[in-house]
Amino acid sequence: MTSPADIPDLSNLWMPFTANRQFKEQPRLLAKARGMYYTTVDGKQVLDGTAGLWCVNAGHGRSEIIDAISRQAAELDYAPSFQLGHSDSFRAATAVTRMMPAGMDRIFFTNSGSESVDTALKIALAYHRARGEGQRTRLIGRERGYHGVGFGGISVGGISPNRKAFSGALLPGVDHLPHTHDLSRNAHTRGQPAWGEHLADELERIVALHDASTIAAVIVEPLAGSTGVLVPPKGYLEKLRAITEKHGILLIFDEVITAFGRLGAATASEYFGVTPDLMSLAKGISNASVPAGAVAVKREVHDTILGAAANGIEFFHGYTYSAHPLATAAILATLEIYEREQLFQRARALSAKFEDAAHQLEEARHVIDVRNLGMVAGIELAPRDGAPGARAAEVFRKCFDQGIMLRYTGDILAISPPLIIEESQIEEIFGKIGAVLQATA
Ligand SMILES: Cc1ncc(COP(=O)(O)O)c(C=O)c1O
Repeated sequence: MTSPADIPDLSNLWMPFTANRQFKEQPRLLAKARGMYYTTVDGKQVLDGTAGLWCVNAGHGRSEIIDAISRQAAELDYAPSFQLGHSDSFRAATAVTRMMPAGMDRIFFTNSGSESVDTALKIALAYHRARGEGQRTRLIGRERGYHGVGFGGISVGGISPNRKAFSGALLPGVDHLPHTHDLSRNAHTRGQPAWGEHLADELERIVALHDASTIAAVIVEPLAGSTGVLVPPKGYLEKLRAITEKHGILLIFDEVITAFGRLGAATASEYFGVTPDLMSLAKGISNASVPAGAVAVKREVHDTILGAAANGIEFFHGYTYSAHPLATAAILATLEIYEREQLFQRARALSAKFEDAAHQLEEARHVIDVRNLGMVAGIELAPRDGAPGARAAEVFRKCFDQGIMLRYTGDILAISPPLIIEESQIEEIFGKIGAVLQATA
């Protein structure tokens, strides 16, 4: 806990996705970050086990990115991106394209994952309309999916607390695939579970119910992160791809956390060998140094929308800060680091070590599942009677006090460190989690 002398007035800030009252009674305030570590306002070092919020893939305080942002701020602080441009926005789009699967080479810039998701959904609708199939408006998400907090994203998302208060205002015409989580079959799987491919067939059922001619797109996270690390069963994504293709439905991969190295490849799409039509990106795109996001679009989708517009603006959508000069400077510097330091390959090489360290906790107190892929691990705890989430919340707080930063969702701990992590730090993270679990009721 932070000492009172270091704490400002906390009352005015309404914190996002936070138990505000609890936090303000026991604040945890970060002051600095370098490499693998945060430093709190009272000088404590905390090993970053979550790359911030799944976003600081190259580690904190990278001087190349800081320099690029500083130079850009001094040179061109802002440029409107409607009917005007600046060179780095085009260079950044080209640089992103180099990391995308072949053919996904049209890039639309946003400022966050939520904006990327809503942008991708709108592109899907615009595409079908441009093809003369404007009746294709239905969007299919998945239970337990997290696609940010815009109205589009929460409508296709499948996390009920995120939807409940807004249920009357969700998009109409949305359906959901079942999620793929089943501990009775898949507990303690290393990598992709063998059971669950058939759950993609549920899409055929949904298509039969609504008719393909009404469905615009299916959106899934290739690996679901925020809901508590759900690894796709073997063959599942391939099947979703085949069914969507068969019915002329666009497939959107929400790669906000998986792109830029998390699985040991540039994208989950590359890792699984399954190419969607649209991909939402954010987080690692700028190493989180400046808010930034993007949608990668198959050229054919882009060309169809542009081709259908007589002249003038082809797609009535965009943000004041799309391709903000600071964001594009950060993106260019970040992607250069990923390439120069071969960080995705590094992540792939470390994955086996990471998997072994995570699965050492299979027998630890309270643990009912350990699952992992690439540089992501989920540790599911048995919930306390009548107090779901309380045990993981306590573990999170105790780990923080012992110098390890984790995430938790319900009773699932998530670990997703920067890709620069050393093997000894991997051991430290899982070792400390084990000790905290042992000391937790
Ligand atoms: C898969 C996915 N999509 C969208 C988002 C939303 O991103 P943002 O918080 O930048 O809006 C997140 C955030 O964690 C995410 O994990």
